[in-house]
Amino acid sequence: MVSKHRARSQPRGDGVLLQEDSDAISYGNRQRPPQVGGYVAGPSCGAEQKQLKTIDQIADEIRAHKGCGFEPCEKATNMVPGEGNPNADVLFIGEAPGKNEDLQGRPFVGAAGKLLDELIASIGMKRDDVFIANVLKGRPPGNRDPKPEEIEHSWPWLRDQITAIRPKLIVLLGRHAMDWFLPDLKISADHGRAKRFRGQAYLPVYHPAAALYTGSLKDTLLDDFKQIPKLLEKIGELPEESPEIEPVFKLKVRKMLNQDAKPTAPVELAKQDTTNQESLL
Ligand code: URA
Repeated sequence: MVSKHRARSQPRGDGVLLQEDSDAISYGNRQRPPQVGGYVAGPSCGAEQKQLKTIDQIADEIRAHKGCGFEPCEKATNMVPGEGNPNADVLFIGEAPGKNEDLQGRPFVGAAGKLLDELIASIGMKRDDVFIANVLKGRPPGNRDPKPEEIEHSWPWLRDQITAIRPKLIVLLGRHAMDWFLPDLKISADHGRAKRFRGQAYLPVYHPAAALYTGSLKDTLLDDFKQIPKLLEKIGELPEESPEIEPVFKLKVRKMLNQDAKPTAPVELAKQDTTNQESLL
């Protein structure tokens, strides 16, 4: 069965966030407006409203997912939804689960994960304080790079996680995560430079695994991480990125979708997810 990971209507009455296809959101008793992949959602204007999914519901959905035809999902030993504080101020987004993550069903538990733990500790935080997720929820075979259509396929889950957590800051670990949110930047030039784009604050940094290969990058990572506490204190002062980035973002996503897209997945699912993405641009 093809899993359609979209928002579903569920009855609730406790005044938490209501979601309408994850695009227009009305919010009740929460402080910050929900932000979705750079999209600051405003109050819904009519149509049927659907309840925002919780982090646990999203995780259940990811773990139960099968039948899409995409290699990382189909071949995963365990899907890796991500873990941490569902109300975290900081959301770390990596690339995809590796071998250890695939075996344990948890993000960043291998050598790169050890370093990430160290980096988080270096700013006086613990793993439990933050949320850690990946762009892909299944391991690409042989740890190959994620394909654009696989990122596109996994996006609704990540989008829903961002919507549920509403982090003050998203730390993009490495170029695959950075490319999805802030395309056309170069990790070598733009690491450690916080940006606000469509209301959401981001900090791109090198992937911790890069520092396992190039030792000097560990100091660079430590330096970039040092900014996080100060950034959080003054997050409201981070200026909005120039609007020119928007068309670039759209173009890049379209290019990513058209370029390497091979019909490895059922057309129906691919189409549906594209619609979702387009509606956020
Ligand atoms: N690398 C990632 O990008 N994510 C993980 O979960 C582990 C290693």
